[in-house]
Amino acid sequence: MPFSRFMEIALYNEPGGYYADGVERVGRSGDFFTSVSAGPLFGRLLAGQFLEMHELLGGPRDFTIVEQGANDGRLLADVLAALDGTALEGCAAVVLEPLGVLRDRQAVALDGRPVEWVESPALLREFRGVHFSNELFDALPFEILRSAGGQWRALHVVESEGGFEFEPGEEVLGAELLPARPDGFLAEVRPAQKALLRGISEKMASGFLLAVDYGMSRRELLAPHRVEGTFACYSQHRRDAKPLEAPGTKDITAHVDFSGLARAAAGAGFEVRGFTDQHHFLVGASAGLLRDLDGRPPDVESAKLLRSLKTLMHPETMGAQFKALLLAKGVATGPVLSGFQFAREAAYLLDEADDALLSPGCG
Ligand SMILES: C[S@@+](CC[C@H](N)C(=O)[O-])C[C@H]1O[C@@H](n2cnc3c(N)ncnc32)[C@H](O)[C@@H]1O
Repeated sequence: MPFSRFMEIALYNEPGGYYADGVERVGRSGDFFTSVSAGPLFGRLLAGQFLEMHELLGGPRDFTIVEQGANDGRLLADVLAALDGTALEGCAAVVLEPLGVLRDRQAVALDGRPVEWVESPALLREFRGVHFSNELFDALPFEILRSAGGQWRALHVVESEGGFEFEPGEEVLGAELLPARPDGFLAEVRPAQKALLRGISEKMASGFLLAVDYGMSRRELLAPHRVEGTFACYSQHRRDAKPLEAPGTKDITAHVDFSGLARAAAGAGFEVRGFTDQHHFLVGASAGLLRDLDGRPPDVESAKLLRSLKTLMHPETMGAQFKALLLAKGVATGPVLSGFQFAREAAYLLDEADDALLSPGCG
């Protein structure tokens, strides 16, 4: 089978898949940390961005917040708590969640807040507002492509002696327009990404899509030293590169190709409005919070907030690897969201993809 199918079963098959078996995955007692593990600050800063989006859309009463990849529901709970007492208190909130065990866990974290659950973008009602995710796109099933003789071939998974191994599969004909690389070079592509973005775009009358994830531009991903690709597995805070071993017991992930994502988004009707690393995103997004903290005597709460901010922003923890991509649909260009005020021009993400189109080789 294609590796993407193997990954889909290993992570999402109900009931035994890694994310579908009811075991806690994120946090100290789980397998890996995310920005949500640093405390409620991340949600609070995202809430600030959503308030700015609400203003940019002219303050509509029907502003809706949609989260996908919510896992335990902590992040949305943090966002909604931070919106209490603001113009978005009590706004509509939707979780896009196909897995029953996660819907139950999210309901506990959201503790009676009026949230709606839908299983897929196709079941969403048309909405105005924001679709956001933290570490969703890296978790979408991907193909692992290997370069051979100027072509890219998808690796397939076959059974072998009670386990699994890779064997070269079919040539991928220009599927993702990757430029040629030396023989043996590995790269990942996500077949479901396009349809996912199209599905969201079809339901978004106007608004923003904010995707935070780890990854980089395509040019950086295909740099000569990344010959082994970026796929990795996580279990109990240990990393390995053996996705075919012990399926269902560990996370399988790869860096997000943000150029590919931006290009797929443009094809789905979104405009790219911002791209930056989490460090610069949060320097901008936390400016108001830091002004507030400056004006009051230091206390336990402010010390906690500053510690969280450091974890989220520091380049050696989450500041450099993680990126924020902002897309918009049906929104006139206007003031920049504070989180993107220090970002460089995002259009280069798309230009890069176009470079790949023009270069010789696959596609
Ligand atoms: C790495 S976890 C991120 C969890 C959480 N957002 C956080 O930051 O702590 C990835 C999540 O994406 C979810 N996911 C993957 N594909 C999805 C899809 N098509 N729709 C909704 N959720 C999905 C997984 O079930 C998992 O909960």
